[in-house]
Amino acid sequence: MNYLYSHILKPVFFKLDPEFVHERVTKLGVFLGRWKLTRAIIRALFRYSHPALEQELSGLHFKNPVGLSAGFDYNIQLPLIIESVGFGFMSGGTVTFSSYEGNPKPRLARLPKSRSLLVNKGFKNLGLERVLEQVDFPEDKDFHLGISIGATNSPFVCDPEGQVEDILKSFHFLMGHPKGKRFSYYELNISCPNVAGSGVLADPEILNRLLQGIREIIGNRVLFVKFQAEIELGEARELVAIMVRHSVDAIIVANLVKKRDNPAFDREEMKLVNERGWKGNFSGKPVEKFSNDLISNIYREFGDQIKIIGVGGVFSAEDAYEKIKRGASLVQLITGMIFEGPQLIGSINKGLVKLLKADGYEHISEAVGVYHREEEDISKNQKVH
Ligand SMILES: Cc1cc2nc3c(=O)[nH]c(=O)nc-3n(C[C@H](O)[C@H](O)[C@H](O)COP(=O)(O)O)c2cc1C
Repeated sequence: MNYLYSHILKPVFFKLDPEFVHERVTKLGVFLGRWKLTRAIIRALFRYSHPALEQELSGLHFKNPVGLSAGFDYNIQLPLIIESVGFGFMSGGTVTFSSYEGNPKPRLARLPKSRSLLVNKGFKNLGLERVLEQVDFPEDKDFHLGISIGATNSPFVCDPEGQVEDILKSFHFLMGHPKGKRFSYYELNISCPNVAGSGVLADPEILNRLLQGIREIIGNRVLFVKFQAEIELGEARELVAIMVRHSVDAIIVANLVKKRDNPAFDREEMKLVNERGWKGNFSGKPVEKFSNDLISNIYREFGDQIKIIGVGGVFSAEDAYEKIKRGASLVQLITGMIFEGPQLIGSINKGLVKLLKADGYEHISEAVGVYHREEEDISKNQKVH
């Protein structure tokens, strides 16, 4: 499978326009997901299960810790095939109350040397009502489908009041729709850098009001918040404390990065992006350090008060394990799968079991946050002596 993707499919895909490839792959995924037989064949080829990877989080049983991050399946057409490929969960969307045709092209570009994608979609999606009409929920109760909700991308919805109102309207709509209530979790996206009015929801007072409103609508259903990558520690701390107050179940760390002087970029590649005047923000390896540092800081500060889902630059089992040891209970990815192929999911899960065993752990929960639990033990011992 690895050979097929890296030597045959990827060289062809990477010669074609990335958005065109994504649309074709989505169509193929919808087709393959429609039939029991194709789903069973794909499962047999790709999926890897092991009891050491199963976890219970916010009352949900996760069969493995690897999820698909928001943005790959923005109209939520692929849950059936995503489950078959071996993911444990996925965030569909980001979906907005009203539809959006997407920012002007190019909306997607590859930076192979930087192992990154330039993303400028701006919440391209069909709008909540149409997305709900067509969504199919997988039969497997242990595969968790969540929906990421953001504010409609429009110059009329870019002030804080407008964004809060638009998001609350989406949550009302979800709770009034028979399919809207079936998602395992609801993900609030406060961190998309590609939309009108980006960043306004990351204001403590606004976030507080928004979370209060959402909790009033959804009660104690499982709620995740998707966080920005490039944020000062003090600011992050204040926002996470607000999430804890509103019993947010998990924080997803983190979204795309904006800054183009990030040392993780290949300089020649970034020069070309700038010369071509491409707008947008970046996924993959340039997100990794921001994500990893935030995971550590949030875990150190908040421990078990809020779960962490680590995302950004996961291309291997080692990358996923690093996030877990820093404090993430689950991980998500997109770019790794685009660069390495769909067999990556099974190979991360298999690799995680090996890495856990090599470190003497019987279960993933023993490794979560171990770096910082060790720090705590050292400082306690120092105090005793
Ligand atoms: C093509 C693309 C579209 C994305 N769209 C969204 C989105 O709509 N909502 C969101 O929360 N994150 C979005 N993201 C960010 C990803 O969910 C993820 O946080 C980021 O890409 C880092 O993970 P990765 O390095 O595994 O790709 C998008 C990423 C990509 C590559």
